[in-house]
Amino acid sequence: MSRLLIGVTGGIAAYKAVELVRLAGRAGHAVRVIQTPTSRRFVGGATFSGITGAPVLTGEFEDDPLRGAYPGDPADERAPISHLALVAGADAYLIAPASANTLAKLAHGHADNLVTTAALAADCPVLVAPAMNDRMYRHPATEENLERLRGRGVTIIGPADGELASHGERGLGRMAEPADLLAACEATIHPAQADSGAWLGRRVLVTAGGTREPIDSVRYIGNRSSGRMGVALAARAAARGAEVTLVAANLAVPPPAGVRVIEVHTAAQLATATREEFPACDVLLMAAAVADFRPRDPAADKLRKAGGAPTLILEPTEDVIATLAGRRREGQVVVGFAAEHGDAAVAGAREKLVRKGLDAVVVNDISRADIGFDTPENEVTVVTREGERPLPRAGKGAIADDVLHEVGRLLSVKESDHRTTRADGNRAAGV
Ligand code: CTP
Repeated sequence: MSRLLIGVTGGIAAYKAVELVRLAGRAGHAVRVIQTPTSRRFVGGATFSGITGAPVLTGEFEDDPLRGAYPGDPADERAPISHLALVAGADAYLIAPASANTLAKLAHGHADNLVTTAALAADCPVLVAPAMNDRMYRHPATEENLERLRGRGVTIIGPADGELASHGERGLGRMAEPADLLAACEATIHPAQADSGAWLGRRVLVTAGGTREPIDSVRYIGNRSSGRMGVALAARAAARGAEVTLVAANLAVPPPAGVRVIEVHTAAQLATATREEFPACDVLLMAAAVADFRPRDPAADKLRKAGGAPTLILEPTEDVIATLAGRRREGQVVVGFAAEHGDAAVAGAREKLVRKGLDAVVVNDISRADIGFDTPENEVTVVTREGERPLPRAGKGAIADDVLHEVGRLLSVKESDHRTTRADGNRAAGV
């Protein structure tokens, strides 16, 4: 059980906070709710106190009959200072919905109501779930405020794309779903448990960076991949207790500490290293951008321009992930990464998933200049056989965590399927 403090601010999405509080209670967490006065115009305190079994405060000067305690905990003998006591007792503080106004106040350190004051006093992780009209969300002021909060370590969950409160409008600004908000709180409080221990002691093979195919002794055909995404995946998997091997192709960033690094340059070297390491791994995260073609006859020396414009004849390289996916043993999870253009990105990823026989494809839209190659941020969709999961735009570290969360799920499912098959086999064999 964890203690969750939930701050509700003014917005139509406040009705979804009711469901969030109900889900959190059902999951066994002790919940206290605080509200801004405006949020009371959307949902009354009686609804939240009825579900949590604890008083709901809106103001600093209201008495708290529970004296800052969470349901199930003994109350303090002394009347506490509400904004300090409630957040001091919390394992996580989630503000959902977080209006544009509250985000602005948080970004600038205002403390003019119980919700903002508690955020300023928080020692525990703070999460916010923005919810507003898409024009407000896209306003540079809101973007800057979110950036500032993210920079201070606040976790931003969502918003999602979809139907908005204003009649007939759709766009980015819809609050993330209650189950996802709860999952984000749980992942923040217990990152390892949130993945059901899926990563502890797992052998994870990550490829990162971009291959270079020699034209001559100094020139090559390369690509724009910096390796940031693969490095973030390796670092986050290691932080979750996995044993990580990183096949690193020409990284523009340093590899993380605590992982085994195998340096490669060309697609052929990457193929050899990955093939050798693959049998021992539980998960392959193939984030490297591997050349599909290489010059057939690279010159051993430097080509001279006096020799005229050279004609390069290219030959295909091996599709490493497709080969390895075809050879995988039961229980192994193989994840591809795809950079695709525009609206057809997810369809393209699904086609790769099927054609290469993968368990998941993580796809990003490279037609956008603000995410992907050479940028610290990304916004991806994880495509599996079951469906698609869009992950909100975030730093590559946070995206890596979200990707690992999804892959951890696949790993657990495969593991239990594998166990069931083995048990069935044993039963059939009378073992
Ligand atoms: N990949 C690979 N070996 C290659 C090329 C790609 O293992 N020779 C892997 C990448 O690391 C990535 C996935 O395949 O995980 C998708 O890469 P992509 O180049 O987009 O796949 P292609 O099939 O080459 O895509 P396209 O047909 O669009 O060129």
